[in-house]
Amino acid sequence: MQNLNAASLAVAVTALLAALPGAQAGLYAKNSPVLQVTAKTYDQLIAKSNHTSIVEFYAPWCGHCKNLQPAYEKAAKHLEGIAKVAAVDCDADENKAFCGSMGVQGFPTLKTVRPGKNKGSKPIVEEFQGQRTAKAIVDAVSDKINNHVTRVTDKDFLRFLAKDDKPKAILFTEKGTTSALLKSLAIDFLDVIHIAQARNKEAEITEKFNIKKYPTLVLLNPESSEPLVYDGEMKKAPLLKFLSQAGQPNPDPPVKAKKAPKDKKPSSSSKEAKPSESSAEATEPSESPVAAEKPAEVVIPPLETLETAQLTAKCLNTKSKTCILAFVPSAHSGASDEVLDILAKLAHKHSTQNHKLFPFYEVDIDANRDVITTLGLQGAAMILAVNGKRNWWRQYEGELTTANVEAWIDSIRLNEGKRYNFPEGFIGEGAAAASSSSTATEAASEVPTETVIVHMEEEVDVQIEPETDADPSLAGTIHAQPTAEENAHDEL
Ligand SMILES: *[C@@H]1O[C@H](CO)[C@@H](O)[C@H](O)[C@H]1NC(C)=O
Repeated sequence: MQNLNAASLAVAVTALLAALPGAQAGLYAKNSPVLQVTAKTYDQLIAKSNHTSIVEFYAPWCGHCKNLQPAYEKAAKHLEGIAKVAAVDCDADENKAFCGSMGVQGFPTLKTVRPGKNKGSKPIVEEFQGQRTAKAIVDAVSDKINNHVTRVTDKDFLRFLAKDDKPKAILFTEKGTTSALLKSLAIDFLDVIHIAQARNKEAEITEKFNIKKYPTLVLLNPESSEPLVYDGEMKKAPLLKFLSQAGQPNPDPPVKAKKAPKDKKPSSSSKEAKPSESSAEATEPSESPVAAEKPAEVVIPPLETLETAQLTAKCLNTKSKTCILAFVPSAHSGASDEVLDILAKLAHKHSTQNHKLFPFYEVDIDANRDVITTLGLQGAAMILAVNGKRNWWRQYEGELTTANVEAWIDSIRLNEGKRYNFPEGFIGEGAAAASSSSTATEAASEVPTETVIVHMEEEVDVQIEPETDADPSLAGTIHAQPTAEENAHDEL
């Protein structure tokens, strides 16, 4: 009975909509997880959002669009609360000009949209040309989510705390990657709460917060004396609620935007967290958005990150050949994003053209500040070429454009341009010593006088036993050649 009523009601509504001038029965039902966007709402819902979106431009009559619908809705469910999965009906009169202006020439066309580098800059729109499966879409979109998550280590933890007096949240995890879920939370709380992640191998801080299982999220709210530990599921809605104790997430779409009501319920469906069915796979901090899995032409893989020990092992020893290194803060933004994007593009270009020139790596500038200062350099982000074997380095200087950086790399390939020698003894164990010891020393001496932090420092001093330092990633490089200086830091 009820089903019948519901069914006939649905038919009636569809007929009604079809009959109404200007209303169109698009591919997606009202309750679809796909966010339905029009020429009018696109700006507020997509272009101005801090979140990443994928937008399908379709026509209801198009066969490939109909074929895509189930996978697209599945992707939307997976990405609920994490990224926006939207659709524009280009057959509707109100949207035709808009679809044309977006360069749509065939249906369906899928484009990812994410915020530009700087505040107020245009969003970055890229065509998605991967497979039209839910997984390929989820992976590609997850990969496009801007990363505002800081990575903290034992060494830079105090510095992270001392950054400012905003609340901070740290996810302790066994994973080396940052999940789309955590990235989305960092975007929700941009400029409100600093979101960070720390690996289980960071023995001092995991001990300090008494972390017993992974993942565990800890909230440091300056207004409460104790760290708050989250013990719910790793899902968007409850996490958002937990973090909201320390500050309100940015409203998205912005509160003043009142465009939507008579449109198709645009705001909350895909973005704001609904506790319900958001899928475990997408919301678990998982390894899923791994670039390497994807066909190369779809998404430009991010640069490989080198930890301090690897930096020596791969690029700063007496046998290492030329490496291109992007020294950037672990929480990228602005210029450092630009650096990474450009290098990722060039690395990708080289690898697809099969002339593997030099390896390109991302390096945390704060954790390796000593390398930079040893070379007499300063700055928040920079590109260096280094060659340990030949004992030279060069810094990229000039305007940051892909073409310029490419020309610079070509000049290195051709042995042109001025190079500088590393200070004597730096390459090899010198580099290892410098980078391993640096940040700890600086962090300790930089600790400001706020009570919380002093307190932290004391605890660190008391609790850490020497053997917790047996970090496998550092073994071999640092412990192979212990110096007095290193030993001092082992105790820290
Ligand atoms: C985007 O982030 C900024 C903080 O960087 C915030 O002020 C703004 O409200 C956010 N906008 C939206 C639409 O969430």
